[in-house]
Amino acid sequence: MDDDFDALDPTDFPDIDPTGGIDDLLIFGGLETRRRFLKKMAGTSAAITLGPALMGIGTAAPAETPATAAGGTPAETASVQFKINGKAHALELDPRVTLLDALRERLNLTGSKKGCDHGQCGACTVLVNGRRINSCLSLAVTHEGDEITTIEGLAEGDELHPVQAAFLEHDGFQCGYCTPGQICSAVACLNEGHARTDDEIREWMSGNLCRCGAYPNIVAAIREAKGKSGGPKGA
Ligand code: FES
Ligand code: FES
Repeated sequence: MDDDFDALDPTDFPDIDPTGGIDDLLIFGGLETRRRFLKKMAGTSAAITLGPALMGIGTAAPAETPATAAGGTPAETASVQFKINGKAHALELDPRVTLLDALRERLNLTGSKKGCDHGQCGACTVLVNGRRINSCLSLAVTHEGDEITTIEGLAEGDELHPVQAAFLEHDGFQCGYCTPGQICSAVACLNEGHARTDDEIREWMSGNLCRCGAYPNIVAAIREAKGKSGGPKGA
């Protein structure tokens, strides 16, 4: 413990509120230290505020602007154009809206599911320019010009995608909540060439959780889809 702290005597600070001021001294070690701490915290808040700018969201609301107006109305919007399942869409969005919420709430594409909303379960997996992503972790406005494929875009009319057909054939689901994400992820996994063995399938599908534990059937479905002639499509 430093000398300054040892030298503290509450009677040296008669103006300090005895219920809070002494605590401040004990926690921060001195009045000047507390002032420096508060200044530092103010700087940290500013750094957090700068986060969206560093993420390339030029239209993010400034720190002083509340996240939403009192009535819940977005303070600012940004425009984005992208293709979803081959169809062009132009949206005006609050820049904080995730791709998952844009798909589900603005475009009524509710096949992609919200499981954890934290990038941990894979229920929201979609394909962006052929690559799988967790759409709950991606802001919609960052997808300008992208081609996005959701579970709704895999089948061609009445003809199921080979991965969808294989999931049906092998009972690759029980409740089905994780299934759209599993299938989108499996399509990408096959296209990536990461389905050479069951172990490899398990490893490269490990970002997609299934609370029902349908894993053996999911692996079997992917193994079968790999063997189908023509290979996967939609990615
Ligand atoms: S909802 Fe996106 S990873 Fe769980
Ligand atoms: S089938 Fe129920 S969570 Fe996977």
